[in-house]
Amino acid sequence: MSNDTTLVLGATGKTGRRIAARLRLRGAQVRTASRSSSTRFDWSDPGSWDVALKDVDAVYMVAPPVPGPAHEFVARAEAAGVRRLVLLSGRGADTWGDSTFGLEMRAAEDAVRGSALEWTVLRPSNFAQNFDEDLFHAPLLAGELALPAGPVPEPFIDVEDVADAATAVLTEPGRHAGRIYELTGPRGITFGEAVELISRASGRELTYRQVSHDEYAAALVGQGWGEDDAHHLVEMFVLMERELISATTDDLATLLGRAPRTFEEYVVRAAAAGAWEIRSEG
Ligand SMILES: NC(=O)c1ccc[n+]([C@@H]2O[C@H](COP(=O)([O-])OP(=O)(O)OC[C@H]3O[C@@H](n4cnc5c(N)ncnc54)[C@H](OP(=O)(O)O)[C@@H]3O)[C@@H](O)[C@H]2O)c1
Repeated sequence: MSNDTTLVLGATGKTGRRIAARLRLRGAQVRTASRSSSTRFDWSDPGSWDVALKDVDAVYMVAPPVPGPAHEFVARAEAAGVRRLVLLSGRGADTWGDSTFGLEMRAAEDAVRGSALEWTVLRPSNFAQNFDEDLFHAPLLAGELALPAGPVPEPFIDVEDVADAATAVLTEPGRHAGRIYELTGPRGITFGEAVELISRASGRELTYRQVSHDEYAAALVGQGWGEDDAHHLVEMFVLMERELISATTDDLATLLGRAPRTFEEYVVRAAAAGAWEIRSEG
């Protein structure tokens, strides 16, 4: 069998499932993998990795949830004959210094960038889809998003753009080797402005409330988060406050030959799909 399969890790997630659909549409041979995907892949079970890596040419890699397994995985990928790796990391990962935020992404970057494979790293800003597919969705459904986000703008990126970028890199061998792309939306907006736009498009009264780091960490722990995980997420807001990751870049336009999607486009699409509607029972 030829080694022409693309392995998509995190395949049920926000980026992975969009990338897999794009690759399939182009006729690529795709293997989707995660703990609940058709190919079972669990970062905490190295015994599940080799089946996923069989006959694979390129891997789309979402970092393991904790630092550690990435080096062993990359070594296994090399041994299995994989030629290319595209890693999803985070905006400005080399500026985070001694922050405890994103240690798992930085460990994965070390593993990928230190490998002999043809690698590319994507470092996107905060995803717009966090407001309807992830952490900020439930608070918005309840009417209020309370965060320690402050006045520093964030250039939210549409996950559709992240998927377009990853698909381009995965389908253009040789062109993106050894490149790190810092991917952002076209302009920064505050979380308060983001909630205002969602409120207008969804026709619901939604508010943003500023809270302290400690209040936010306590709220996360109240929702069942571990103390360490809560603290690590608060550290992301500390990085944002330091304006280390707030600037926009041209990398997405360089990669795709077009401007990134706006936050407004995302909001209209998600509102039309009913993302923030309260549905009546029965
Ligand atoms: N959200 C943002 O704003 C943002 C911005 C920049 C970077 N990032 C980075 O993006 C990554 C997340 O990517 P995403 O948003 O596309 O995914 P996601 O929506 O967070 O979903 C996580 C994916 O990983 C899989 N997964 C979770 N635990 C796993 C395990 N132990 N073994 C194997 N697979 C596992 C899940 O599938 P199963 O449950 O089926 O295993 C799912 O497919 C993180 O590294 C995050 O730091 C996020």
